[in-house]
Amino acid sequence: MKAWILEKQGRIEERPLKLVEVPTPHPRDGEVRLRILVCGVCRTDNHIAEGDLPLRRSSVILGHEIVGIVDEVGKNVERFRVGDKAGMYWLHSACGECKYCLSQRENYCSQIKCTGWDVDGGYAEYVTVPAEYALPLNAVQLEPAEIAPLLCPGIAGYAAFKLTGAQEGDRLGLYGFGPTAYYVLKVAQSMGIETYVNTRSAKNIEGAKRAGASWAANAAKERMPHKLDAAILFPPAGNLVEPMLSQLEKGGTLVMAPVSASPIVIENYSENLWGRDIRTLYNLKRSDAEELLEIVNRLDLEVGTSLFPFEELQDALILTRRGELEQPNAVIKVADR
Ligand SMILES: NC(=O)c1ccc[n+]([C@@H]2O[C@H](COP(=O)([O-])OP(=O)(O)OC[C@H]3O[C@@H](n4cnc5c(N)ncnc54)[C@H](OP(=O)(O)O)[C@@H]3O)[C@@H](O)[C@H]2O)c1
Ligand SMILES: [Zn+2]
Ligand SMILES: [Zn+2]
Repeated sequence: MKAWILEKQGRIEERPLKLVEVPTPHPRDGEVRLRILVCGVCRTDNHIAEGDLPLRRSSVILGHEIVGIVDEVGKNVERFRVGDKAGMYWLHSACGECKYCLSQRENYCSQIKCTGWDVDGGYAEYVTVPAEYALPLNAVQLEPAEIAPLLCPGIAGYAAFKLTGAQEGDRLGLYGFGPTAYYVLKVAQSMGIETYVNTRSAKNIEGAKRAGASWAANAAKERMPHKLDAAILFPPAGNLVEPMLSQLEKGGTLVMAPVSASPIVIENYSENLWGRDIRTLYNLKRSDAEELLEIVNRLDLEVGTSLFPFEELQDALILTRRGELEQPNAVIKVADR
């Protein structure tokens, strides 16, 4: 099969991936093989390609927003049949035995394996995945290219949203409006929760309003009209934490989505932190993915994707890195149907 492999990390402009012919994999016990239709591009792919994240094996096929068709089924698989539409996301597998795995909190498992990092991912014609972790997509009424970004920003956004505990009638703040926040807004909207978006660029302010935010502006220039019941921080900007807390009602929750952040200083504990909670998003778990897929047909999604041919993966990575995509999400087309 054709696959893009990464052997040695390097600046994305220097095009560190290579398009090569590799043996087509076959599913082992408990696995299925997907014939890949599309794979979404994530900023994390750039972080792995460029060396911000360590290379965990060489060579590796990147890509963790995979949508495909099951075309071979290994032994002991009940969940899928040949011809099913299925997806694979960042969580490839976990140990299944630790206290976290045994309590459906596998996001904390220390043995987690990640798709397109520890094991080969989706920038190829085929991939084998554990059936237990693969996502059934037959019921999802979206095009493959619209499903792909759902499998990373969508699931992460849903997971962050769940951590807020927001309920119908609440006001939810979104700080930063990238692809992840878009999905949170749509989930919140479907539950009768108002969203208040603080983002700097005119493009994102416009995008948030179009998506249905009750208020969207740069809060450094324009005051939010209401206090919030909960808020999610998306960019790694630790300096936003105290201003966000001061915008929360008593009993409110601040959720931090980033995987790293600049220093967080809280100067006024009594006024700004006392009586509020801070929670952090730490990896994704299966229940978040499955719950999102259950409600996705009810969300009024207009997923903006820039579709690239398979051969142009590195152009998509470069544009993603530079923030120069025409649409919020880049998706690589591997096969027509
Ligand atoms: N914790 C986990 O396990 C996990 C899993 C998946 C993803 N994530 C995280 O989820 C986050 C969301 O990713 P994403 O790609 O959707 O978002 P993103 O593009 O990294 O950031 C969202 C937006 O924040 C805005 N922003 C940046 N600095 C700002 C500031 N100082 N004040 C206000 N807004 C600011 C930018 O828009 P403007 O230019 O309009 O301001 C940017 O588009 C990332 O941090 C990612 O690491 C975490
Ligand atoms: Zn991702
Ligand atoms: Zn475990």
